[in-house]
Amino acid sequence: MSENHVFVTRPLSAKVMQEARRSLPVTLESHPSKHVPPNRKELLNGCRGASGLIVMLTDRVDEEVLDAAGPQLRVIANVAVGFDNIDVEAAARRGIVVTNTPGVLDEATADLAFALLLATVRRLVEADRFVRAGNPWIWGPQSFVGLDISAGATLGIVGLGRTGMAVARRAHAFGMRILATGSRASSAEAAELDVVASDLEGLLEASDVVSLHCPLTADNRHMIGRAQLDSMKRGSFLINTARGPLVDEEALADALDNGHLAGAGLDVHEHEPQVNARLREMEKVVLLPHVGSAAATTRDAMGALAVRNVTEVLSGREPVSPVGT
Ligand code: DGY
Repeated sequence: MSENHVFVTRPLSAKVMQEARRSLPVTLESHPSKHVPPNRKELLNGCRGASGLIVMLTDRVDEEVLDAAGPQLRVIANVAVGFDNIDVEAAARRGIVVTNTPGVLDEATADLAFALLLATVRRLVEADRFVRAGNPWIWGPQSFVGLDISAGATLGIVGLGRTGMAVARRAHAFGMRILATGSRASSAEAAELDVVASDLEGLLEASDVVSLHCPLTADNRHMIGRAQLDSMKRGSFLINTARGPLVDEEALADALDNGHLAGAGLDVHEHEPQVNARLREMEKVVLLPHVGSAAATTRDAMGALAVRNVTEVLSGREPVSPVGT
């Protein structure tokens, strides 16, 4: 790797890479594989001498990486809105700017969350597997019966931020009642969608479907643990498109096993990319490989924003989206 370069830990789309080469004031070096992240040694090597890093949520950026990079490192741009993979305080202590990609992936993530919600409560994947297995079938009054979301079902949105609000818009259009936690739950936009502000306890007790949309922080690991799952309505569903460690997956597997919960849809996992072995065996669980933002225009917008943030900082200007905005 050359000195004074920007290292990107996975090639972004051809369009974004081209724009990066055009706009960055220094050369761009990239890890070669778009499918496999750099291993630790490759990450440390790639960062060495870099003035900017464009990283993915799969890269752990900690003191060791900052040491390996060296004192010339000025900016770390995460190609994600969540930034729990980066030691932001360590970066701040060294005067390194950290940026993320808020505002460009809300709709795509909300689409995926809603698709996962529907797939889970209407048992789509289970029914698809049943058909593909070549089972004989005929329409039946009690076959594959799921939850009517439009018949007064209540959705509990944990964390009514940008993505949570986009999910609320969809749920409102489907005729669901909506409870939500978070400061925006009392906003004018929430009121227009008939969102009722709640605390977490009340939301868990009253919701037919609980959907998580909050960032992972130092304080909320396992915020949905055994006690919270026990307090959920019998026969309700949990959807997680935020971050896996928000949920205690062993407790979730128990709640599904003993029939307290009717199903779960998980796009994110506690120990990504490993998937809980018990959940993998359960018909009533829909499992996806963290694809919430995986839509072409959205991914280009995320990449473009990361490149823009690095370009701005390396050109002596303010970044567009430093973390926490
Ligand atoms: C994010 O941006 O944090 C998402 O998880 C990426 O899909």
